Amino acid sequence: MRYRVDLRSDTVTTPSEAMRRAMAAAEVGDDWYGDDPTVNRLQELAAELTGKEAAIYVPTGTMANQIGLRLHVGGAGHLVLCEGRSHVATTEMMTSAVLSGVTYRAVEAGPRGLTADDVAAGMHPDAYFDVEVVDLISLENTMGGYAGTVAPVEEFRAIRKIAESEGVPVHLDGALIFNASAASGVPVAEYANEADTLMFCVSKGLGAPIGSLLCGPQDLMPEARRLKILFGGAWRQAGVMAAAGLVALEEGPGRLSLDHARARRLAEGIAEIAPLAVDPDAVETNMVFADVSSLGLDPMDAIELLGREGLGVTPIGPGVLRMVTHVDVDDAGIDLALGAWRAVVAST
Ligand SMILES: Cc1ncc(COP(=O)(O)O)c(C=O)c1O
Repeated sequence: MRYRVDLRSDTVTTPSEAMRRAMAAAEVGDDWYGDDPTVNRLQELAAELTGKEAAIYVPTGTMANQIGLRLHVGGAGHLVLCEGRSHVATTEMMTSAVLSGVTYRAVEAGPRGLTADDVAAGMHPDAYFDVEVVDLISLENTMGGYAGTVAPVEEFRAIRKIAESEGVPVHLDGALIFNASAASGVPVAEYANEADTLMFCVSKGLGAPIGSLLCGPQDLMPEARRLKILFGGAWRQAGVMAAAGLVALEEGPGRLSLDHARARRLAEGIAEIAPLAVDPDAVETNMVFADVSSLGLDPMDAIELLGREGLGVTPIGPGVLRMVTHVDVDDAGIDLALGAWRAVVAST
């Protein structure tokens, strides 16, 4: 490991002992044929936890999102309404064009995500020519572009009503939906109930090494499976990884509030060292954004300096660095991170 404490992402975790044991002992089969019993168990559990009829296990959140998008739009030339900083419209913009044939009507709505008013106003961008037709609404929770803020379920309900009246489906990028649930107390299934399909990642805060699940109605699953194979996701004896996913769903959700408390302590500590860099009240889940331009530091220099002190962070926007707490970071790790910030700020 390059860093003594690595807060670049919650994807940097290594499998727990229980995961490694489960992986070694996993019963497997060829998932292309649908006969990997461990994959099938994980899919059943994901469907149960989200309240959906079925789920499909795929290698990445990106693949799960793209299958979700394309399932609803079916081909090229479609507009998806979403929040401007959402993952699909930023990191996955090119992927969306290539794999799903969609482009975005992206509304900068802010840290709570799209509101029902944004959706009502955004549904008919092209009243005169009927070329720019919104065929799908894509929501996200937590909001990764806004330091992991939680989008309210009440707004999801209001958006769903508009979507239904317009006859437009809703996809939810719930890569970190278990974090949203831990922070808000709203069950994952309640968020999921306001979307036709949702995806979540076991490979992020939940701590598994690999994998995401796309959940939705049974009648969409044959096409979801076809798209998974089309996108190169027929991954054979995937039960080795699914076994870790099952452990992640047992061990993970219950401990996410610890990550959230540590993120809050980290933000409060940095705010004491560099008051303008961080707003601790903006921390709702496991992410902290720090604006180093307030310290007169170039973000890439700041990353280098913090790295030399043993702390891994990542750039997220102009002048802004991201830190994400996760299962491999304990209280001592937060102390170490704060020590790194103290040393770097003292040297500026
Ligand atoms: C909100 C969100 N959606 C989708 C993804 C894509 O997941 P993956 O990196 O597994 O493709 C991420 C990854 O960070 C994410 O944060």
